[in-house]
Amino acid sequence: MLQILATGGTIAGETDLASGSRRYQAGVRTVERLLDNVPELTRVASIRAEQVMALDSKDMHPSDWIRLRGAIRRAEADPAISGIVVLHGTDTLEETAWYLHLTTSGRTPLVLTGAMHPADHPEADGPANLLAAAQLAAATAAQGKGVLIVLHGQIHGARMLSKVRTTGLDAFGSSGAWQQARPAGQFAHLDTPALPPVAILPGYAGAPPELIESCLATGHRGLVLALTGHGSVPATWLPALRQARHQGVAILRASRCTGPVIRNANADDDGEGWLTAGDLPPPKARIALMLALAAGWSHDRMALELPTL
Ligand code: SIN
Repeated sequence: MLQILATGGTIAGETDLASGSRRYQAGVRTVERLLDNVPELTRVASIRAEQVMALDSKDMHPSDWIRLRGAIRRAEADPAISGIVVLHGTDTLEETAWYLHLTTSGRTPLVLTGAMHPADHPEADGPANLLAAAQLAAATAAQGKGVLIVLHGQIHGARMLSKVRTTGLDAFGSSGAWQQARPAGQFAHLDTPALPPVAILPGYAGAPPELIESCLATGHRGLVLALTGHGSVPATWLPALRQARHQGVAILRASRCTGPVIRNANADDDGEGWLTAGDLPPPKARIALMLALAAGWSHDRMALELPTL
């Protein structure tokens, strides 16, 4: 039996008639209505469905990830469930997928999907994506791969997935073959009611150090710096960053470019007490840092292991 967990998104969206049909609202249709639209699902497996939440994924909060993980854990613990499908908005799908990749056991195939057109669009892509996700979750090929994502006939692994286009049905891209994906699950045993606040600060020409100061004033425990080039820290940020380290705030250098930020290669990370992202993009480095802080990892362990997650 497959467990379908719905969280909202465009896949459950409907046109907003009040906007003259120029906009739509995500997360309107219930999971039961979405399933009714895909009768072929019954040929894949028997289905159990749960509406976990009904959000536009831009509004998803780390507390919602924890709630979703709870529903996944309950499904994983049920011997009748052989695969899990999560229906999700595409905007932050890569964040939820990465969080789940790190925090679930990987024993049961877990596939996320969404849609770029709302459910009442004449060319709605949600039904085909839902069917493809169910077929993958029921397939032996999905076993032992960790969290997988299906959209527009393409399969991706959670680690290297990003939404790369604002429009178009093939909105996601990833490097590396999904067949080589492996479960992560480093934080599968972490039980925490909340994740510590970690902010992403963008590096750009003239970026003011007040960005850092306001995060310190609001109690952030970590800062991921989405910097230019190879993670280049603006000189004007150094005093505020040193103050942050003095207050015990974790600082992680990442890049707004694709590619690795290598420890001590472009900054004195050891001397400053900074962490580096490796090839994790800033939103994923943030999730890794939140989990490592919640798990009480030492600075040395974070420096060594975060880039390799
Ligand atoms: C959302 O992320 O919930 C809205 C956008 C989408 O699903 O494509």
